[in-house]
Amino acid sequence: MTDLVPVITIDGPSGSGKGAVSARVAEALGWNVLDSGSLYRLTGLAVEKAGIGFEDLKEAARIAENLDVRFEQWMVFLDGEDVTLAIRSETAGNNASKVAAVPEVRAALLDWQRRAARLPGLVADGRDMGTTVFPDALLKVFLDASVEERARRRYKQLKEKGISSNIDRLAVEIRERDGRDRSRTVSPLFPASGALIIDSTGMTIEAVVERILQAARELLPSVD
Ligand code: DC
Repeated sequence: MTDLVPVITIDGPSGSGKGAVSARVAEALGWNVLDSGSLYRLTGLAVEKAGIGFEDLKEAARIAENLDVRFEQWMVFLDGEDVTLAIRSETAGNNASKVAAVPEVRAALLDWQRRAARLPGLVADGRDMGTTVFPDALLKVFLDASVEERARRRYKQLKEKGISSNIDRLAVEIRERDGRDRSRTVSPLFPASGALIIDSTGMTIEAVVERILQAARELLPSVD
């Protein structure tokens, strides 16, 4: 079934705009969207709730396998509790990056992710969508942006949510997280072969979306 479903993968570092771009591409095409980062964020939160230290992550895979998650429109529930906002915090992002380095956690979440490939198509947003999860994807995109630009975007996003932060501190955290995501041994962050690489520094979301839709149209004539 999965092979018959067209998939567009959008990978890239945090703050590259993948989330917003993926949602808009999916909306334009009328396709489903997979925010794979939310699964790692949920696992991180579940590990924290279980009171397991982040230095001993053997238990994390068992937790990932047994995640009791419900997605309802834009809301996410973990063990019946609304965690929509909680999984978006900087701490949740950093914890997600730690559990994401555990091979067994990644293996446990693989099926979860592949099951999201449903007709009429899927836009999959993450770090290893094109390299590992959907290696046969129709179109693979790698979205990047400079650290400074990504820190600025994150600062603005947090400000809009009423959360105060420090732009230099955000840049340090982004660099740390990038380092972990790019250097881990399992599924490190790098462009899939043949990926369309877009550096979104200085580009609007609309321009990035249009670039991806144009590439999708060339590959899939039924996309308009
Ligand atoms: O995209 P995000 O910021 O919500 O992702 C949170 C963390 O999860 C990120 O630091 C890396 C990890 N992640 C991953 O390793 N593989 C994915 N496919 C998605 C996210």
